[in-house]
Amino acid sequence: MDVRGHQQQQLKLRSVKRWTFWSLSIAIISLVLLLYNNRPAKSNQTWSNYKPASQAQFKAKPRKTACGAVGQDPPGEKAPLLPVNGTHTLLLSAYLEHRTENQEVRVIAVVLGSEAAAYRCHLCCEGHNISTSLHISEGHVNIHKDYFGFQYGTADIMCPVPSGCKTPSHVSVTSAAEDPDVGPPVFLAVLNQRTSDSFPHNFTVCISTMFDFTNVLQLVQSMEMLQLLGVSRVVIYKTSCDADTQRLLDYYTDKGFIEVIPWSMSDHLNVSKSWRPEKAPGDLHYYGQIPALNDCVYRYMYQSRYVALHDVDELILPQSVDRWNDLMPLLEQKNGADKCYMFENYIFPPTFKLPPPVSETHHYLQDKEKPTWQGISGVNILDHLYHEPNTRVVRDNFKIIVSPRAVIETSVHGLLSSYASCVWVDNSLARMYHTRAPSQTGLTPDKLIYDGRLLGYSARLIQAVNTVLKDAGLIQKDI
Ligand SMILES: *[C@@H]1O[C@H](CO)[C@@H](O)[C@H](O)[C@H]1NC(C)=O
Ligand SMILES: *[C@@H]1O[C@H](CO)[C@@H](O)[C@H](O)[C@H]1NC(C)=O
Ligand SMILES: *[C@@H]1O[C@H](CO)[C@@H](O)[C@H](O)[C@H]1NC(C)=O
Ligand SMILES: *[C@@H]1O[C@H](CO)[C@@H](O)[C@H](O)[C@H]1NC(C)=O
Repeated sequence: MDVRGHQQQQLKLRSVKRWTFWSLSIAIISLVLLLYNNRPAKSNQTWSNYKPASQAQFKAKPRKTACGAVGQDPPGEKAPLLPVNGTHTLLLSAYLEHRTENQEVRVIAVVLGSEAAAYRCHLCCEGHNISTSLHISEGHVNIHKDYFGFQYGTADIMCPVPSGCKTPSHVSVTSAAEDPDVGPPVFLAVLNQRTSDSFPHNFTVCISTMFDFTNVLQLVQSMEMLQLLGVSRVVIYKTSCDADTQRLLDYYTDKGFIEVIPWSMSDHLNVSKSWRPEKAPGDLHYYGQIPALNDCVYRYMYQSRYVALHDVDELILPQSVDRWNDLMPLLEQKNGADKCYMFENYIFPPTFKLPPPVSETHHYLQDKEKPTWQGISGVNILDHLYHEPNTRVVRDNFKIIVSPRAVIETSVHGLLSSYASCVWVDNSLARMYHTRAPSQTGLTPDKLIYDGRLLGYSARLIQAVNTVLKDAGLIQKDI
């Protein structure tokens, strides 16, 4: 071998060594980062002890330092809940507001009601050079009036867009009491950059706060019913669920039907399990349901003609037509387009399992059509066709279908602030079927009222549910 050949071989050998060294280093660094980022989240933290964790979080995810990193949030990092240093405020998400006279960025937040913090907005405006594209404006906080007696509530921090800022792509909020020269550590992407009047979805259902969820059968039944009704997207703010539920969520996410938004409110606040602090103590109403609903409305504002704000155990069924697509024209004829509709809430307690009345047996499922869902945990809505006698709860606990563009602030039952008023839907046109624990005490079967509307869907529902349970691997294929 001549000298040249020898040198070439040595060069090759060296480059192989270098390559090996760098690959190994990158692999080790990636592994360490991966493990660190996926370390188990601390739960049950309160304001007094959560700060160190949140600062560690800033170090671990320097994903949007300054204006540099422009773009969408990486998958699985939506709704990251950014604490505002020096306050008890948590930032959830940011949306460009197109409906007001002067352009503003709306930052959806959770605030301590008694704190009255003042805020400074930092807006990144077109371009990656922080010294030319960062604009500062004074944030105005608007605390939503529904917070059901808890210390924390939902708020909008409105950030005026200065005239020099054409495209506010990212925003962050600091306390006005902090040094103005100390920039915020992390930015949120400003969503809804453009308006649209052609929507990929006619109906999006916003299901807030899934927490320790195990009601697998009712979940799959609801998802399939919603598809029969014309819904093409369901948004679920998820904290925790069992393994079978997770399989279903993964299945529907792959199909593009469900969008899961990780909901880490309980990492930051002591969330209540109920709607009043007397019923279950905590800092924030019902797992943070209200900020989640507000986020969903804004997230889908230009993606969905209508949004329905109801829970997974609730189904709005039209009475004279089959699908929401055919119901809405009936309602719009009477009230005009882009309105808000309220549906009465009928409770079907699963504590009773009664066959339909004799006069209705022609609707009842023949034994051979009955599904075999024994291994699946949760409520079978087809077994519970009797509702509680009507009380004022029917109209107190209503839910809505609304054009998201008509909403400014939403609560659990109806809107707090909007561009359109809400109108009642007559219960002969549609009503809500709520299969859940009884609200009335001392109920006996003779007091319950039969409503077999669901059986009008049962043949299609059973077939669809069987298909999903098999495809998701929850029941055997050969059954
Ligand atoms: C949450 O707060 C309530 C009321 O202050 C308290 O009873 C409960 O122990 C707290 N839970 C945690 C995990 O901090
Ligand atoms: C929060 O504020 C404290 C005191 O002003 C400061 O030392 C700290 O670096 C700040 N943390 C972040 C993440 O901005
Ligand atoms: C950013 O803009 C400033 C002011 O125009 C300029 O001095 C600086 O060099 C720019 N930085 C980069 C990275 O382009
Ligand atoms: C929305 O509704 C219209 C009119 O009923 C229909 O043509 C269209 O296919 C629907 N889109 C979706 C995504 O379901």
